Amino acid sequence: MPAPVTTIAALSAHEGQLVTLRGWLYNSAGKGKILFIQLRDGSGIVQCVCNKAELGDELFEALKHLGQESSLIVEGTVRADTRSKLGFELHVSTARIVTPATGYPITPKEHGPAFLHDHRHLWVRSRRQAAILRVRHLAVQAIRNYFDGHGFTLFDAPIFTPNACEGTSTLFETDYFGRPAYLSQSGQLYGEAGAFALGKVYVFGPTFRAEKSGTRRHLTEFWMVEPEIAWAELEEIMDLAEDFLVECTGHVVEHGRGALQELERDISILENVRKPFPRMSYDDACKILAEIGHPVDPEDDFGSPHETELTKRYDRPIMVHRYPTAVKAFYMKEDPANPVRALGVDVLAPEGYGEIIGGGEREDRIDVLLRKIDEHKLPMSSFEWYLDLRRYGSVPHGGFGLGLERFVTWMCGIPHIRETVPFPRTIDRLTP
Ligand code: 4AD
Ligand code: MG
Repeated sequence: MPAPVTTIAALSAHEGQLVTLRGWLYNSAGKGKILFIQLRDGSGIVQCVCNKAELGDELFEALKHLGQESSLIVEGTVRADTRSKLGFELHVSTARIVTPATGYPITPKEHGPAFLHDHRHLWVRSRRQAAILRVRHLAVQAIRNYFDGHGFTLFDAPIFTPNACEGTSTLFETDYFGRPAYLSQSGQLYGEAGAFALGKVYVFGPTFRAEKSGTRRHLTEFWMVEPEIAWAELEEIMDLAEDFLVECTGHVVEHGRGALQELERDISILENVRKPFPRMSYDDACKILAEIGHPVDPEDDFGSPHETELTKRYDRPIMVHRYPTAVKAFYMKEDPANPVRALGVDVLAPEGYGEIIGGGEREDRIDVLLRKIDEHKLPMSSFEWYLDLRRYGSVPHGGFGLGLERFVTWMCGIPHIRETVPFPRTIDRLTP
């Protein structure tokens, strides 16, 4: 009877036993009558020790000449190996080559980013990329756990939309049977309808922005999670953002230690993400920036160098609230105490990772909203449905959006957002 099939991640439960592993050759090195194969199976990488005397000349030679990423099935005994990261190796008793591969383009030597991104469909097999994508998975799990565990109902928003949510300059327009339709920039407006129906909801899905510049923080297609709560005012939104980020970071650190170590992430920084997060008004943030030699025009917005300078001073995310109304979206509520400031909040990550969350209170007064739609030169007709939310029992409400890839970039401590998604879309990349 063949030995039971298991995975590399589960090897510790099989010490001393004969098992079968199915995977791909990651690397190999030989020394005379001994061959070491690094086998990758998606759950991990294990060293497989092949002995010529045991396997016979023919199989040993075939394995020795096997190219990187050939697929194979090996049977062998699990042995403790204190020198390896995994703690185990496989002493191979027999093997079957499934599909030999030659000329795999991504070799252990250095490749440039353009080459790697052109081969993204293969690059995702590398240790580092697999670790990043595992962190992404854990982040999604943490997000769902958080909202599901705090009384929120998932409320899906459409992707084809008739109206802009976040300004008209980054809209992707499509031809919808002869009419224009736009790919959703944010599910928020629909989330507001959900909050008035179900109380506390979250929208979680892909969003699209025609970002015309290539930066380390922008994708044209990214995932956003957007909670929206009826009756919530700005303070409550900030409390939620803080609690949510602490929980999500904790989940990633607790379950992703191996992946974060693979990425050489300094975990102590993430362990520091505790309440309370420093909170400051935009005007106070401008004063700090002026004092440290990075002045901002207070009626303008921060640029990313300002965010970096400001966050450098803190060991955890900070919350900046009450930005100039003029730089924020049409739906953001004006501060009744000072209408040139909006009741919005951005959460800025430490270590220069910048804005990860944007949100705040929504304009709940129909007269102000009508004026804002007009001022922003948005087509009133496509907002009729949204105005109904103000006509029929409007109440204070608000929420925020977390950019999943921005969060994952920060968790992983990597310089560029494009590695946090299996197949990134940026201004200059549509393939693979
Ligand atoms: O600040 P933004 O534009 O806010 C909204 O879209 C609100 N409607 C959200 C809400 O209140 N429900 O975007 C929210 C977050 C940003 O903080 C950032 O993390 C991410 O979305 N984001 C991007 N991530 C990657 N690439 C881009 N081009 C992004 N644009 C925004
Ligand atoms: Mg924003």
